[in-house]
Amino acid sequence: MQGAIGVFDSGYGGLTVLRAITAKLPQYNYIYLGDNSRSPYGNRSFETVYHYTLQCVEWFFAQGCPLVILACNTASAKALRTIQQNDLQRIGPDKRVLGVIRPSTEIVGQFTKSKKVGILATNGTVQSQSYVIEIQKFFPDVEVIQEPCPMWVPLVENNEYESHGADFFIKKHIHQLLKKDPLIDTILLACTHYPLLLKKITEYTPVDIKVLTQGDIVANSLADYLHRHQEINEQIARDGKLAFYTTDSAEDFDSHAAVFYGSPLKSKHVDIG
Ligand code: DGL
Repeated sequence: MQGAIGVFDSGYGGLTVLRAITAKLPQYNYIYLGDNSRSPYGNRSFETVYHYTLQCVEWFFAQGCPLVILACNTASAKALRTIQQNDLQRIGPDKRVLGVIRPSTEIVGQFTKSKKVGILATNGTVQSQSYVIEIQKFFPDVEVIQEPCPMWVPLVENNEYESHGADFFIKKHIHQLLKKDPLIDTILLACTHYPLLLKKITEYTPVDIKVLTQGDIVANSLADYLHRHQEINEQIARDGKLAFYTTDSAEDFDSHAAVFYGSPLKSKHVDIG
C-alpha cells in the first residue's frame, strides 16, 4: 500500500518547506500537520518537544505515510535522533523520519569564503548545538556563530511579521550576531518560520552577506534521497494530492496559512495527544 509523504511542523513554518518541496516534486501526495495548539516549540524542554513530535510522527504513520519530514528545526534538533534510534524499530521499522538540519549543514559551508557562518534559530535549536556539531562534521574549517531569536516565531505565528514592532527584534538579533563576529559572510535562517521575515532580515543585513533559507535546500535533498532510496520511493503515492491538518482551529489555520504556503488552502482539525 502506498501513502503520502508526511510534513510536520509545530505550526505554520513547515509550510515554507512544503511549498518548495511541492514545487520541486509535485507528483507525490503530501499530508501536512501543524501542531498549532502546542506551538511554539522553541522554548520547550527536550522531553516535551520529543514527546509532542513522537505523537505527531505516530499520527502520520497511522495515516499510512511511509516517510515523514520534520520541517521544523526545533523538532529536528530535539527529537529526530531519539525517534530514529529508539522508537522507529517499535512504531514503524519500514518507515523513515528525516529532518531539516542535515540537508542544511551538508551544504552551508559551500557558501562561505570567510569560513564564518551565522545561525539564526530558536532557543531550543541553539541550545541543542546541533548546527555547531553537524557543520563541524562536513566543514571542519568553518566556525559557527549562533544567535537565538526567541521572539521571531511568536511574531510570525501572531501575524506581526510585517509590523513596525518586528523591526526592533529583527535588527536586535542581526546586530547581536554580527557583533559576535563581524567576519560572518553567510547566515542560515535555521527556523522554518523565518522566511516570512526575510524582507526585514535582508533590510538589516549588510548586502555582502548571503542569507540562506531552507526550503529549496530541503527540497533538493529530498529529491536526492528518494532517488537513492527506491524502496521508500516506491511506497509513496503519486496523485499530486495535498491534505492539511492542524491541532488547533482549522479556520484560523486557513486564514494564516496562505502567506506561508503561497496559495490558499483548506485544513481539517485533528486531536493529538
Ligand atoms: N519552525 C520551527 C523551527 O524550524 C519553529 C519552532 C517553534 O515552534 O518555536 O524551529
